[in-house]
Amino acid sequence: MAYQVIGWMEAYRAVRDKLGVSPDWRLIEYLPQVPNGPVLDLGMGKGRNALFFAKMGYEVDCIDISTTYVKQCQEHARTENLTLTAQVVDIHSYEIPNRRYALIIASKVLQFFRKSEIEEIAKKIYAGLARRGVVYARVFSLDEFEHVRDSSSLEEVEPNTYYHSKYRLYQHFFTKDEVLSLFPRLKLLCLVEGVELHPIQKKPRYQWIIDYMGQRTR
Ligand SMILES: C[S@@+](CC[C@H](N)C(=O)[O-])C[C@H]1O[C@@H](n2cnc3c(N)ncnc32)[C@H](O)[C@@H]1O
Repeated sequence: MAYQVIGWMEAYRAVRDKLGVSPDWRLIEYLPQVPNGPVLDLGMGKGRNALFFAKMGYEVDCIDISTTYVKQCQEHARTENLTLTAQVVDIHSYEIPNRRYALIIASKVLQFFRKSEIEEIAKKIYAGLARRGVVYARVFSLDEFEHVRDSSSLEEVEPNTYYHSKYRLYQHFFTKDEVLSLFPRLKLLCLVEGVELHPIQKKPRYQWIIDYMGQRTR
């Protein structure tokens, strides 16, 4: 398989040393479940997960709405001599190619959408999975709501979706049942709710998260 071309430990260290943040550990735990094939990282930010898979020899596509992040990700790929396609695209308008991907990653990005939009994105993700393709979604749980900054400017606009007028964005908080319901046709690989130490903020802070992994069976 592709990831045997270079070991995950080497790829993990390279990304951590370069970006100062690590790829999501859950992806490494479940690597043996991921079939050979292209990887898509939705809202990849600086690309800690996208670069990790590119380093291991996977074909990687990634998108983000931020021009700055896309440029940074492309620059990191260039300096590491990695091949990766990074584009400035809004997930709203992105048509995921049908049945193309062995792995689709949506790590800490689905919270920026309204519940109704998340349901549509989940359908596109499902359609984009190849046979035995895997989805990884890392989302914020309802418990994170208690810890949102400036919560007085939050207004609930859909169930568990809030509009944050101060930052002019939506924030959605998930339950485990809801995450499961987004991917009714996938075989459940992992569903874990818990806390993690925020990896980059200067002042240590915990985040309440849900990790989901599901696999297409056909
Ligand atoms: C919290 S960061 C997570 C970045 C990365 N997935 C990670 O785990 O390190 C959220 C990312 O989602 C991107 N994003 C937010 N709204 C988006 C949209 N509508 N379309 C594409 N990317 C979006 C942001 O620019 C940002 O890079």
